[in-house]
Amino acid sequence: MKQKIIELEGKALAEIESLVDEASLEQLRVSYLGKKGSLTSLLRSIAEVPAEQRPELGQLVNKAKENITRSFSDKKNLLSALKSRQGVSLDITLPGREQVLGTLHPITRITGEICGIFSRMGFKVVTGPEVELDYYNFEALNIPKDHPARDMQDTFYVSEGIVLRTHTSPMQVRVMESQPPPVSVIAPGKVYRRDSDVTHTPMFNQVEGLLVDRDVSLGDLKGTLTSFVHQMFGPDIELRFRPSFFPFTEPSAEVDIRCVMCKGRGCRTCSHTGWLEILGSGMVDPAVYGFVGYDPEVYSGFAFGMGVERIAMLLYGIEDIQMFYRNDIRFLGQF
Ligand code: DAH
Repeated sequence: MKQKIIELEGKALAEIESLVDEASLEQLRVSYLGKKGSLTSLLRSIAEVPAEQRPELGQLVNKAKENITRSFSDKKNLLSALKSRQGVSLDITLPGREQVLGTLHPITRITGEICGIFSRMGFKVVTGPEVELDYYNFEALNIPKDHPARDMQDTFYVSEGIVLRTHTSPMQVRVMESQPPPVSVIAPGKVYRRDSDVTHTPMFNQVEGLLVDRDVSLGDLKGTLTSFVHQMFGPDIELRFRPSFFPFTEPSAEVDIRCVMCKGRGCRTCSHTGWLEILGSGMVDPAVYGFVGYDPEVYSGFAFGMGVERIAMLLYGIEDIQMFYRNDIRFLGQF
């Protein structure tokens, strides 16, 4: 009898342990604890054993009943908690969930590619503050107080004399100020302008480049940027240097590539010109050297700056810049 009680208890606990749904648990409960359940009949049969054994056996069988009852209710609680958490009952036969690996954001990727190309040419990657002094963002770049770029329409002002940088060009001044020539750096980072439409976002990314040494010529600028464009857009891409103006370079040039959408025939993307502007550049204006203490009689150099989103849009054929920042994983995961 004692043996029987112990075995029944062990068997019941093991069966409860193995069940995974509430209906079979209830069935099992009835088969042990119901009116005709095996534990119930064992309990009844105590009445038939000799009187002197009854207390011991009674205690044992009651203890077993207690354990089994508690085990049933614990299991029941567990199953219903799992069920309410998942909205469905637990099915341990389902295959495991696939671990989806993330991808780099397309802007991170293109920034990395641009920096990679210039690093291999010997440029060092540097970064600097997004909250910038007016002095670095404008003043020391030869952008006078009444220049239209300072307009409240374009610039986010943090406080008097402090702005969210509107371009990465202030890094030119910061780098030159902190070291003597020669310098060759590339500075990627976020920039801010009060602008928002299909080709503009209030925050976007630029990569700035600067090289200063003895005897640097416009030819060096052309060679460096031509090599960059060919590595970025392919060796067959046609490009041109178009005269332009920036307060911190003289002479200045913008680089255009043949329209990647229409191959030059003329379309909406290139405003029917057949060309797409991809970067601004020029020979560093002697006025800028004045702010950092470089001798313009001894040193010369070139600088350039480009918008990462624009380059990504052209490479991937994306028409709406806002797509990069809507965080739609179906879009971002494609690159
Ligand atoms: N900072 C300019 C802009 O945001 C781009 C630029 C033009 C950078 C010419 C340069 C440069 O370094 O030489 O529009």
